[in-house]
Amino acid sequence: MGRKFFVGGNWKCNGTTEEVKKIVSMLNDAQVPSGDVVDVVVSPPFVFLPLVQSSLRSNFHVAAQNCWVRKGGAFTGEVSAEMLVNLGIPWVIIGHSERRSLLNESNEFIGDKVAYALAQGLKVIACVGETLEQRESGSTLEVVSAQTKAIADKIPSWDNVVLAYEPVWAIGTGKVATPAQAQEVHAELRKWLHNNVSAEVAGSARIIYGGSVNGANCKELAGQPDLDGFLVGGASLKPEFVDIIKSAV
Ligand code: G3P
Repeated sequence: MGRKFFVGGNWKCNGTTEEVKKIVSMLNDAQVPSGDVVDVVVSPPFVFLPLVQSSLRSNFHVAAQNCWVRKGGAFTGEVSAEMLVNLGIPWVIIGHSERRSLLNESNEFIGDKVAYALAQGLKVIACVGETLEQRESGSTLEVVSAQTKAIADKIPSWDNVVLAYEPVWAIGTGKVATPAQAQEVHAELRKWLHNNVSAEVAGSARIIYGGSVNGANCKELAGQPDLDGFLVGGASLKPEFVDIIKSAV
């Protein structure tokens, strides 16, 4: 069976209650392919999760943008995986490059977070990606393999993981990876999974692309054989997110 297309919308640290309500109503009114064809998951900031969860159409789902690495307790400012489960939030994004770079989250810490979130029953969108400097020095594959290995080493199963390849130089810059650049890394990641996890996981794991995806460039990217969807930032706050969802077919 083929891999189901996956479109995630990462709203990052954006929005007011009014803006969030408008985006939700835009999504609720949209004509989109059926849930058999595409998984749609939007990720508002923590404070808006209950609002979005309760007002979003039932065939779209929500993700948190982060969660704590172990059981909750005396960790001021953090939100635990158990709390997300308690609220019925099915997904969480872990390892986004903004957290890796701004909050110094290491490969190992991210591997631990993915493992803990999965163990609590969450599904995880796990992000990897190289910086411009790393790409220019020819170490892209080494970097994304090490980031993927740090996750693979800690988890017993890839069933509930979507791997998001987000080159840092493409995030929020308008410089989208070319379809060939994205395909090359996706194919390498799949090969890495084949050689280091299993042929089965390599065949079934969804590898999605993120970085300046928009309504105009999504179709060509979506046509790449190893690209199974998108993690969208800026454009997920706009009506063109619906066009990106439609690129599933
Ligand atoms: O997680 C999505 C992301 O980092 C891409 O952001 O704004 O380039 O689509 P953007």
